Amino acid sequence: MKQIVISNKINYLGTNDRKKELFENNWPLPNGVAYNSYLINDDKTALVDTLEFGSKDDYLDVIASQLGGKPLDYIIVNHMEPDHSSMIGVLLKFYPEVKVVSNIKAFKMLEAYFKISPDNFLEVKEGEVLDLGYHKLTFYITPWVHWPETMMTYDKTDKVLFSCDAFGSFGTLDGGIFDDEINFAFYEDEMRRYYSNIVGKYSNMVQKAFAKLKEVDIKVICPSHGPIWRTNPAKAVELYDKWSRHESEEGVVIAYASMYGNTEKMADYLARLIAERGIKNIRIYDVSKTHASFIISEIWKYRGVVLGSSAYNAGMHPMMEHLCHELSVVGPKDKNYALFGSYSWNGGGLKSLIAFSEKVSWNKIAEPVELIGAPDEKKMEGFSSVAENIL
Ligand code: FEO
Repeated sequence: MKQIVISNKINYLGTNDRKKELFENNWPLPNGVAYNSYLINDDKTALVDTLEFGSKDDYLDVIASQLGGKPLDYIIVNHMEPDHSSMIGVLLKFYPEVKVVSNIKAFKMLEAYFKISPDNFLEVKEGEVLDLGYHKLTFYITPWVHWPETMMTYDKTDKVLFSCDAFGSFGTLDGGIFDDEINFAFYEDEMRRYYSNIVGKYSNMVQKAFAKLKEVDIKVICPSHGPIWRTNPAKAVELYDKWSRHESEEGVVIAYASMYGNTEKMADYLARLIAERGIKNIRIYDVSKTHASFIISEIWKYRGVVLGSSAYNAGMHPMMEHLCHELSVVGPKDKNYALFGSYSWNGGGLKSLIAFSEKVSWNKIAEPVELIGAPDEKKMEGFSSVAENIL
């Protein structure tokens, strides 16, 4: 295969995973995922992050071929989650002298996961420089983007930032690898779904990482998932900054759980009222059909959120409970919200939604609407206020 050159002496060595159904055994991958790894073939040689074990069967051959007989001196671990680090054990068998470069938090976890000998570790601290010859690598400790040991590596010579999960995206790289080779509209949705579900919980830490990198001149961003930003890295920074500040767009997400269609009718009725007010971005989701990760991504994007559930065993529907649980974990902020529900005898769906809403600090814009049995216009009068105030 042709070498994919990022910059002088830096090559892309990533791969696409189109087989895995669920990332972290939790998040659906209808468009797959890319694991990106980079080889710096300088006077001293370094791999920046590796791959998920088994995701590229010729990985070692490609490394050996590109090194052309030189030893591998360093493996830089920006993040030890196994989607980036689980090839290290195999690499150590081929390159037993290699130094695994990371911070003390990562070493504890690497030892626990892969039994790597401390003799192979080379600890780096904030701002320290590793001189490879032409390239000079500086390390920035950026905890919780996305695990506590996360750091970023910056090459001062060619101004390349290896950011690992930060600026990453779901979706395989189907031919186009760089931002100027792809239709970004597709990746923007998958990038936001990645951000909101994987990194979003740590948005304040993303802002801290930004503060640290403020003065760093970045020409190329090399994340460990998704496209590489060589033409417009400012776009990736702009999106991450916006999402981590919880800045949203005009629009409303209505997510409902309906057993026999009555709660769904309420969602449609409300959506029509909102549309009559001239709001164009309205998305309705059946939580039993659409995985929570997609709904959370849309909720991250839009300002208005309306959640509705039928009663189910005196609580909310289990699929709505799942969405609410995930929302309370990842914590989108600054939302205008309203609630609704339906029931057949004692209710419980709306009551549970209210209990959820008390845990998140969103802005309640109207009283909830609840009805028994099938909806009619009279029973849904309360939706006028929801439609009027949601944005
Ligand atoms: Fe791509 Fe947090 O691992």
